[in-house]
Amino acid sequence: MHQERKISDGIYWIGGNDRRLAKFENCFPIPDGVSYNSYLVLDQKNVLLDTVDRAVSGVFFENLEYLLDGRKLDYVIVNHMEPDHAATLADLVLRYPEVTVVGNAKTFQIIRQFFDLQLQGHLLEVKEGDTLCSGKHTFSFIMAAMVHWPEVMVTYEAMDKILFSADAFGTFGALNGNIFADETDFEHDRIDGARRYYSNIVGKYGVQVQTLLNKAAGLDIEMICPLHGPIWRVPKKIIWYIEKYSRWATYRAEDNDVVIFYGSVYGDTENAADILAGMLSERKIKNIRVYDVSVTDVSYLVSESFRASHLVFAAPTYNGNIFPAMENLLNDLKAHNLQNRTVALMENGSWAPSSEKKMSEVLNSMKNITILPESITVKSSLKEVQMPAMEKLADAIAASVDETDKNS
Ligand code: FEO
Repeated sequence: MHQERKISDGIYWIGGNDRRLAKFENCFPIPDGVSYNSYLVLDQKNVLLDTVDRAVSGVFFENLEYLLDGRKLDYVIVNHMEPDHAATLADLVLRYPEVTVVGNAKTFQIIRQFFDLQLQGHLLEVKEGDTLCSGKHTFSFIMAAMVHWPEVMVTYEAMDKILFSADAFGTFGALNGNIFADETDFEHDRIDGARRYYSNIVGKYGVQVQTLLNKAAGLDIEMICPLHGPIWRVPKKIIWYIEKYSRWATYRAEDNDVVIFYGSVYGDTENAADILAGMLSERKIKNIRVYDVSVTDVSYLVSESFRASHLVFAAPTYNGNIFPAMENLLNDLKAHNLQNRTVALMENGSWAPSSEKKMSEVLNSMKNITILPESITVKSSLKEVQMPAMEKLADAIAASVDETDKNS
């Protein structure tokens, strides 16, 4: 049964929700599911904006068939060729052979890589600033390379002032009836899913996201329709979300908070991390979060690192290197271009502790990461004699948090 939703006169959401998939991109846990959004504009010419993941193709084609009601599908605009949106493109072309596929040169290259489709005479190649008129609606195309793939573009619809934003402004989490962000307590209930989506999927490409934000600043936007998650239509909420994106894209922390990440084989590094957390609390540091890197999926840890200003990494030495789960986290942070953070280090090693040095090497290869000189070396387990050094480390972190507070 079809389940389309009207979002404006003649414009419909026709996507679907997947609450069965364990890991998005076979990488990122999505306990709250994910939505694949597709949009249909009914006009003198009927225009589809993106298709959907194979998982929701059934309901997507039912929605499309119901709304077209025997009319022709004239265009499909392919803003993004990643299969979570384009896996059903070949099926669409087979069902609607008269459709013209709209994309840029890179789009068509990737279409040919994924599919063996005969599209001669059914392609419309567009470039930055090109427009397509469907009757009442005029669509203009804005290139957004590497937000998140090289062929990505976004489409601006001039009559209703809608930005069809591809992956940008997307979130993890299925849509639960409320397809508009203002129908949810997004700032409380969905922001973590949005940040985890941004940081893990697009986080590496902050420069390219900034370029897109600069282009979007020149548009009069009344609605943002992303390919995942809810639609934005309330001006002050759109401004709020763009500000979040601007912050994430420039790698500025959202909160002047401390997050402690520890790895621990037998509980001794965990013990040191918990003691440090308590000492920070006694120094009036609020909202401290502590994560066991072996327990919490790294995508959540990357997201927390994009949120907080101060990060503590506590890890045993393992095979002469960093404990594997911590090494994975640090490499992931580097891969996602995390910048502008203050960090503190704690290491453990029963005979040749070297994880602090190895962690420093990764962190020093990243941009604008300040490593506090105070650090702790645990030899098997923390000893009473080390408590003054622990206090000194807590003092240094607390002083840095206070300093950041004063400067913000
Ligand atoms: Fe939602 Fe880059 O695909």
